[in-house]
Amino acid sequence: MHPVILNLTDISYGYPGGPSVLDHLNFQLHIGDRIGLVAPNGSGKTTLFHIIMGLLKPMSGTVEVFGTARKTEADFVDVRRRIGLLFQDADDQLFSPTVLEDVAFGPLNLGKTREEAVEVAKRTLDFLGLAGFEERITYKLSGGEKRLVSLATVLAMEPEVLLLDEPSTGLDNGTKDALIHVLNSLELTFVLISHEFGFLSQTARHIYTMKSGRIRFDQELPIHTHKHAHLMGRQPHRHV
Ligand SMILES: Nc1ncnc2c1ncn2[C@@H]1O[C@H](COP(=O)(O)OP(=O)(O)OP(=O)(O)O)[C@@H](O)[C@H]1O
Ligand SMILES: [Mg+2]
Repeated sequence: MHPVILNLTDISYGYPGGPSVLDHLNFQLHIGDRIGLVAPNGSGKTTLFHIIMGLLKPMSGTVEVFGTARKTEADFVDVRRRIGLLFQDADDQLFSPTVLEDVAFGPLNLGKTREEAVEVAKRTLDFLGLAGFEERITYKLSGGEKRLVSLATVLAMEPEVLLLDEPSTGLDNGTKDALIHVLNSLELTFVLISHEFGFLSQTARHIYTMKSGRIRFDQELPIHTHKHAHLMGRQPHRHV
């Protein structure tokens, strides 16, 4: 078994005035894990990611990351350097006027010089097929473009672990394939939330689900094939 990166023990959380969302949840992530998380809307997936990043504080339980218990805001500075979170909503991720500034922001914040940060930002944009987007106005990008630029801001920080909250949402099939290729070419540990079985089956090695505020490890993802008919049936096509 590879070393443990993340160890969540007995985590409970509910939003103020609301019901319990996470209920004595336990979860371990090891180096090299590639985990897909699929569970119904409102089951607490995003909440779980926010607990891991220290954006929400659990009501009980312990969050241990890279071998250290994390409680205070200061404890999570190191976590946020080494774990990259792709927010479910790109508007939570992007805040600079231009794409280049947004992607260079993280590396700058990590202490790189302006030149180095711009270099990493450009390299990352290239890697994601976004060369030429540098001076585009972030808030005017399309939904799919924002998704990819968000991913660029995360990758530019060269994290050891990725937490991806529905990365394929809003992407066309070609872009989704490119994202699958990117994820499979990175030597990274990740947890990926998605409702798309096709995407999950091509990226994740294990698929977990959530129920009643806990992670269920034991369920097999029911991937199946079926016969079907539709207008494009004779053309090569893909179902996701
Ligand atoms: N800021 C908030 N304030 C109050 N309740 C919230 C807040 N954010 C989420 N919730 C509630 O907590 C529960 C879990 O939400 P969460 O966003 O973690 O679910 P999810 O599994 O990510 O769902 P989805 O698949 O729709 O993204 C939901 O019932 C949601 O309404
Ligand atoms: Mg969510």
